[in-house]
Formats: sequence, structure tokens, C-alpha cells
Amino acid sequence: MTAELLNGRELSDKLKEEMKQEVAALKEQQHIHPHLTVILVGDDPASKSYVRGKEKACDYTGISSDLIELPISVSEQKLLQIIEEQNNNNDVHGILVQLPLPDHIDEQKVIHAISPLKDVDGFHPVNIGKLVNGEETFLPCTPFGILTMLESKDIDIEGKHAVIIGRSNIVGKPMGLLLLERNATVTYCHSRTKNLREIASEADILVVAMGRQNAVDGSYVKEGAAVIDVGINRMENGKLTGDVDFESAKEKAAYITPVPRGVGPMTITMLLKNTIKAAKGLAE
Ligand code: GUN
Repeated sequence: MTAELLNGRELSDKLKEEMKQEVAALKEQQHIHPHLTVILVGDDPASKSYVRGKEKACDYTGISSDLIELPISVSEQKLLQIIEEQNNNNDVHGILVQLPLPDHIDEQKVIHAISPLKDVDGFHPVNIGKLVNGEETFLPCTPFGILTMLESKDIDIEGKHAVIIGRSNIVGKPMGLLLLERNATVTYCHSRTKNLREIASEADILVVAMGRQNAVDGSYVKEGAAVIDVGINRMENGKLTGDVDFESAKEKAAYITPVPRGVGPMTITMLLKNTIKAAKGLAE
């Protein structure tokens, strides 16, 4: 079997076209101008590049955005004060603080400080709690993007065995919750899991978010599985690659995401969706 590609770039482009129309209509008919504030601390090249991608996507769809750039030495107190100002600004619908933050700033404290109604990342404990309860909320962008890709191909989730490798707050944990909500049987695996290959090779849906290049090859993949590669690793030659050995995995899988042009573009696109939702006041 050679897998069908889950092309996140193509799907993103289609969704962005739809959102462009929606934003134009919101402005014209309801005088709502969706606005996202992005806060970047320090000048890590990868974070800067992600933030640029987010700004560009906002621009394209007609969502206005501000970038607040702060020096790496900024105090936690100052950052919290800036977030409070954004919370209180009625023209701002979404607030995103790019992670990771420097060691002297408590990441959880910062996440707690963002109004849950403007938390377009879906990281605030109130929104995570709603996700656990199956209530309407902002879904964390990467899992939301993955779900949207699966649904775009009508890939069955109900009753299927989903194996998530990686238990981060941003990807692994919420991914499992979203699939559970759609009646999958979910297994979480992580760095201490024994028999990883054995468990992974029972997955109908295999989500790999380990952050290690080629950590999973075809021997981890069940015949006919959907394989989702969340990894973004830069190789010595400068090119990007995922956590899955694409060539061997695609021979077993029925569906597979490439890297690049797979999950990455979908993450940004879901941020736009969440910002529009915030502007419409739908997460309340
Ligand atoms: N750093 C890496 N991914 C993300 C993300 O989805 N949101 C934020 N805020 N920071 C990140």
C-alpha cells in the first residue's frame, strides 16, 4: 500500500480562502474587525519565524494583528502588565504569547494571566477544563488542525484505536482528549513507555509528537493506519523533516502527513479560526 497524502498546505489554503470571505462579511455586516495580539519575548530564530508566519496568515485573511516584541530580559511583572492591558482592550480579540519563554518567567503564570475569552491558543486551564468536559471552547491549534485534516478525508474516528506518542500540554494531551470526545479508544505513549513499537503498531490513528527525527519508521505502523507526524526537525542540510521516517511509513499507512506541508500550516490556520471565533464572542 502507498499512503494517500494528507496535504495540510492545500487544506489550509482552502480554509483561509473561506475565512477571508467570513472576515470581510464580519467587517461589512457587523462592523467586527478581528484582531490578534502576538507577544514575542527574545529573538529565538524559530519563534520569530513562527510569529512571522502567523502575522502573514492574519494579513492574508484580513485579520489585523499587532506584534509586541520584548527583550529577553523583560521582567515577568512587565509581561503580566502588558497582558492585562491587552485583556482590557476591547479592540483585541485574541492574545498569543509565543512559547517557550525565558527561564526567569513562569510560563503557567503567564498562561493563567490571559483572559480565557481571548486565549486563542486554548492553553488556559479554564479552556482545558472545558475541553475535558466536552464543552465549547478554543481548541489548541495543533490538535484542532489534525482533527480537521482527519475529518476532511472522512477518516473514521469512532471506535478506532488512536495512539498518541508524546504528552505535551500543547499537542499530545489535548489531542487524546479530542479523539476521546469523538469516541476513539485512546492510548498515550511517552518517553518512559515500554514496548512502544508494539503499541504503536496497533494504532488505526497514530499521532507522533516526540520531537526526534525519524523516531518512528514503518515497523511502528499498522497496515492501513492514518499516520500524523507533528515533528518539525531541522536537518544538517537545513531542510525540515518530521519524527516519522516517511518513506517506510508510507508503504504501510493508508494516509500520512508530509513534513513540511502537513500539520504545520494547519496549526496557523486554526489560530485564525480561533481568532474569528473570539471576535464573534462564540467561546463564552
Ligand atoms: N510555541 C510552539 N507552538 C506554539 C503554539 O502553538 N502557541 C504558542 N503560543 N507558542 C508556541
